[in-house]
Amino acid sequence: THVVTEACIKCKYTDCVEVCPVDCFHEGPNCLVIDPDECIDCTLCVPECPIDAITTEEELPPGQLVMLALNAELSKTWPVIVSQKEPLSDHEHWAGVSDKRDLLER
Ligand code: F3S
Repeated sequence: THVVTEACIKCKYTDCVEVCPVDCFHEGPNCLVIDPDECIDCTLCVPECPIDAITTEEELPPGQLVMLALNAELSKTWPVIVSQKEPLSDHEHWAGVSDKRDLLER
C-alpha cells in the first residue's frame, strides 16, 4: 500500500486526491491519510505531491512506521476527499520542517 508520511502535516496540498482512481484519500484537520484497504498501488499520486509526502509501505523510513498505523487507523473515521482545495495557510513554512508527527491533529 501507499502511505501519506508526516511531511503532509500542516501542508495538505491535496493535489494527490484528484488522480486517485479508487478515492482512497481521507481528510483530517491538518493532513491526509490513505486507506490501505482501498489503495491499489497505482502510484499515480506519488508524483502529484509537491513535497513528496507519499511513499510506499516498503520505502517508509523505519522512523515513520507510526505513520503506517495512523493511515490505517484514521482512514476509517476521517471523510473521503476527492477534490483539490487550497493548502493550509502556513504551508510554505511547514513544507521545510521535518519531524512533524507530534503536530498531527485528529
Ligand atoms: Fe499531503 Fe502531498 Fe497530498 S502534502 S495532501 S500528500 S499532495
